[in-house]
Amino acid sequence: MVELKKGTEIELVVENLSFGGKGLARINGFVVFIDRTIPGQRVLVRITRKRYSYAEGRVIEVLEDSPQAIVPRCTHFGTCGGCLWQNLPYNEQLRVKRDLVWECLAHIGGLPHDVVLPTLPSPQVYYYRNKMEFSFAPRRWLLPEEINLDQLEKPRNFALGLHVKGFYNRVLDIEECHLQSPLSVAIVERVRQFALTSGLPPYNTMDHSGFWRFLVVRDSKHTGQILVELITASNRSGVKEIDQLSSLLLAEIPEITTLVHGISTKKAQIASADTRNVILGPGYIEERLGDLQFRISSGSFFQTNSQASKILLDQVLTGCSLTGSEVVWDLYCGTGTMAIGVASGARNVIGFELIEEALADARTNAKLNDVDNCEFVLGDLKGLLVDPSSLIDRYGIPDVVVTDPPRAGMHPSVVKQLATLAPPKIVSVSCNPATLARDLKILMEKYRLIRVQPVDMFPHTPHIEAVAVLERR
Ligand SMILES: C[S@@+](CC[C@H](N)C(=O)[O-])C[C@H]1O[C@@H](n2cnc3c(N)ncnc32)[C@H](O)[C@@H]1O
Repeated sequence: MVELKKGTEIELVVENLSFGGKGLARINGFVVFIDRTIPGQRVLVRITRKRYSYAEGRVIEVLEDSPQAIVPRCTHFGTCGGCLWQNLPYNEQLRVKRDLVWECLAHIGGLPHDVVLPTLPSPQVYYYRNKMEFSFAPRRWLLPEEINLDQLEKPRNFALGLHVKGFYNRVLDIEECHLQSPLSVAIVERVRQFALTSGLPPYNTMDHSGFWRFLVVRDSKHTGQILVELITASNRSGVKEIDQLSSLLLAEIPEITTLVHGISTKKAQIASADTRNVILGPGYIEERLGDLQFRISSGSFFQTNSQASKILLDQVLTGCSLTGSEVVWDLYCGTGTMAIGVASGARNVIGFELIEEALADARTNAKLNDVDNCEFVLGDLKGLLVDPSSLIDRYGIPDVVVTDPPRAGMHPSVVKQLATLAPPKIVSVSCNPATLARDLKILMEKYRLIRVQPVDMFPHTPHIEAVAVLERR
């Protein structure tokens, strides 16, 4: 048997896909995770990491492609960290996503996996995103064909695009992307041309110098409204450039309905501004989910796949099985999508959210939809639920709790408090089956897991959204 260690080169056949998107192969039962592979591929792999129970490897060469491989649509496929599975048929992506939810529930949560239903597909598998964040960088990631060239067509010291998978500080210049609308790519191109010749450098994450940081494009799929946010470092000398770029964008891309300049002083590479100046338009876009209308400002969370969000919302509604008399608590309510979506079936709904801007949008969204039985509470759920008696006195004991935490899942103390609160029904929405499984495991003492419905919000990526329905025992 080959002794695996870092640097070993070995031929393997990929058997399956693992949580996080890597291919999984075995050598005498020992698991090797291989980046950017799909089942059925025979690959020559270099081991990059060896642990007690598994190893990781990088592909040196694909010796034989998978019988199910299809031609990826995007020329950046293979380098860009955005899509990992464009070469996998869509039906297969859906199957894999369901299997991965199964595995997480069984392995992490020790839960029965027969309750997981087949993944519901996204109505659109390309151009489905209503938001994309592009990063500026002072060093462009070279394409394989550029590595040995003496003369590069494009400068090396500037990039605007998406991250190379696994490297937060390496950016691939994006010339095409099939996840948002083609107009968004045109906006990226125009901003790139301007910033490149502006004389102001991109932000450098190593020494925190430079000006250009992020470009965020929000693009409503139902109203056609487009929000562009330029996020820069704080630098007074860039005021003129922002003015020039704004005039140019508005003249050349009249579809832009609102333009925002955000300033970020954060050291972390997060596309979120500390202060914002609305240059044109209202500073938000409007999006529709079915009959409901939502206002989304630049800083607020909104599900990125509008069409699939409607399916997700319908699943939440079905899971709540409301009769009109229930009090519903919507934990981690963001801009109020779920709260407002279930309001017409409930007596009243209380949304809880940490970010003030999102909550302001939630209140506006409730008004926009003539919903008058929703209230929203600002705060960190970790603190809010420590002693829920005042919330109960004010809003009533919840009959149903909807919870939709960020990827990290609910804070353990929130899960514990939820178990103590013990509403008859919990509908748990999650974009991370691993943390979903962890949180459900704690709730299982008091609850029965009725079903878990995966919904594909992110075609061509390994991300999985799921709605779990729980009933008190
Ligand atoms: C996945 S989003 C869900 C949003 C909403 N359910 C929707 O569908 O639009 C998670 C939300 O939780 C909020 N959040 C994160 N940590 C929180 C906390 N500790 N307490 C309250 N809200 C929190 C975030 O600001 C974000 O809006």
